[in-house]
Amino acid sequence: MSNPETTSRDPSQLRSSRWFTPDDLRSFGHRSRLKGMGIDDEDFRDKPVIGILNTWSDLNTCHSHFRERADEVRRGILQAGGFPVEVPVMSLGEMLMKPTTMLYRNMLAMETEEVLRCHPIDAAVLMGGCDKTVPGLLMGAISADIPVAFLPAGPMLKGRWRNETLGSGSDAWKYWAERCAGNLCDAAWGEIENGIARSAGTCMTMGTASTMACIAEAMGMTLPNAASVPAVMAEHSRLAVATGRRCVELAWEQVTPSKVLSAKSIDNAITTLLTIGGSTNAIVHILAFARRIGFQLSLDRFDELSQQVPVLCDLRPSGRFLMEDLFNAGGLRALLKNIDDLLHLDCPTINGRTLGEQIEQGEVIDDEVIRPRTRPLATTGGTCVLRGNLAPDGCVLKTVAADPKLLHHKGPALVFDNYPHLKKMLNDPDLPVTADTVLILRSAGPLGAPGFPEWGMLPIPNKLLQQGVRDMVRISDSRMSGTSYGTCILHVSPESHLGGPLALVQTGDEIELNVTARQLNWNVPPEEIEKRKAAWKPPAQSAVRGYQALFGKHVTQAHEGCDFDFLEGNSPGEEPAIF
Ligand code: FES
Ligand code: MG
Repeated sequence: MSNPETTSRDPSQLRSSRWFTPDDLRSFGHRSRLKGMGIDDEDFRDKPVIGILNTWSDLNTCHSHFRERADEVRRGILQAGGFPVEVPVMSLGEMLMKPTTMLYRNMLAMETEEVLRCHPIDAAVLMGGCDKTVPGLLMGAISADIPVAFLPAGPMLKGRWRNETLGSGSDAWKYWAERCAGNLCDAAWGEIENGIARSAGTCMTMGTASTMACIAEAMGMTLPNAASVPAVMAEHSRLAVATGRRCVELAWEQVTPSKVLSAKSIDNAITTLLTIGGSTNAIVHILAFARRIGFQLSLDRFDELSQQVPVLCDLRPSGRFLMEDLFNAGGLRALLKNIDDLLHLDCPTINGRTLGEQIEQGEVIDDEVIRPRTRPLATTGGTCVLRGNLAPDGCVLKTVAADPKLLHHKGPALVFDNYPHLKKMLNDPDLPVTADTVLILRSAGPLGAPGFPEWGMLPIPNKLLQQGVRDMVRISDSRMSGTSYGTCILHVSPESHLGGPLALVQTGDEIELNVTARQLNWNVPPEEIEKRKAAWKPPAQSAVRGYQALFGKHVTQAHEGCDFDFLEGNSPGEEPAIF
């Protein structure tokens, strides 16, 4: 990592100088067109050009404050002597995109990489927050290997209904179950709709957005303690300005992602995911980060670390509180200080300090939200990785959000061939289902759905909800929202679309889950399995043209990170030729 004291401030070393300084016709064109926008030599000559990659969109509810924040980032860049340029990139808004934002994470990653590479950008602030925008932006930046600072969108204010706080997603599922059970009238449901999302910002539970913001911070890609700052607070505006300022220094210091990220920072990301009781989606994104950085991370690493890392963050869906409470309790920095013996403290950050130096100032203000080591939410294993004849390449279960009684369970399978089948059958009064049944959904994986949607928290049939059942063992090759909960076994790999075991399970087969042994098995004799395998016919690929056809040809399986095979790795020196 470069030392700011000794950093060269020679403007001819800046990447953008290749566009702007030569005395040739092409550079004349670059300069004259900037001037056509009212920009003068004093604005840009010899200054680092700082991109502001903004994922604002009217259809991304979580980023509705990003126009204002982009102006604040710009202010910071100007203060530090940079030349700010705002560049829109694809916005992936979880709430309104169909079939799933995960279909487009790699598209944002490709766009980010190419936008950074093809423009005169020396460093960039990445503005993201809603679930897939964080990995999409970071994956692209890792591959472009141009200095970046990540600015998390910040969580929404806490939701409110009468005397209750409401958490995004988690409380929607909870009260929907009550509504389906006949316990909640229309008026009350309407009040919840009005009170669950009260401001700009991302889901304020420990869903995927909050999880990925914490991971970006733990990997050293944000300013210190950035992950939990609520989106609409003045502190968030100040964070935006400071991120802009810092990014100018990153350009001079040439702090590229490859100087910050390594196998050790990926370990820190996993440890953080586990101690915050974070979203299972992060597993897929971290696997993809590792391959972009240049090494193959195994799912087993998550399980190894999960045996050592306690869950200390008491946030919904696993615990009680919300992101605003984490912010007031001291933020991620304070939480990480509680587990500093489990982190690689020597990892660099974009702040010119090591992670250890960065978390040194952490202080726990409220030890109900950030628990001490002596009083964890769970001593180990917020999430575990299971294998067995039903998931030879692995699957995951967020144990801390599951009913402990179901972690060792044997029951008959009830299989749904795809999501429309499930929707049609689920509330059939004759459905052969009891609380012991294991619900299975197939054709819900990266290729099968396609796009790897969040269908993994399979709904519990209304007739069981009315009997008071609130959790069941559920298995799919799908993902689930980070705000979801329950004994939901996810990311079964290989997926059913490729003929993985889920494709061959039949209703009535016995399924056995044993979390202690990390096993998920299907108690059917091998001869019978072979017979079914021989009779199985691969389904046709659904998309024949466009982006979805590209996705179908190149997306990898869940245990490999679901990146496109041709996007793994990075190409730092690969600069566009300038003629
Ligand atoms: Fe955007 Fe949850 S919908 S973070
Ligand atoms: Mg989500």
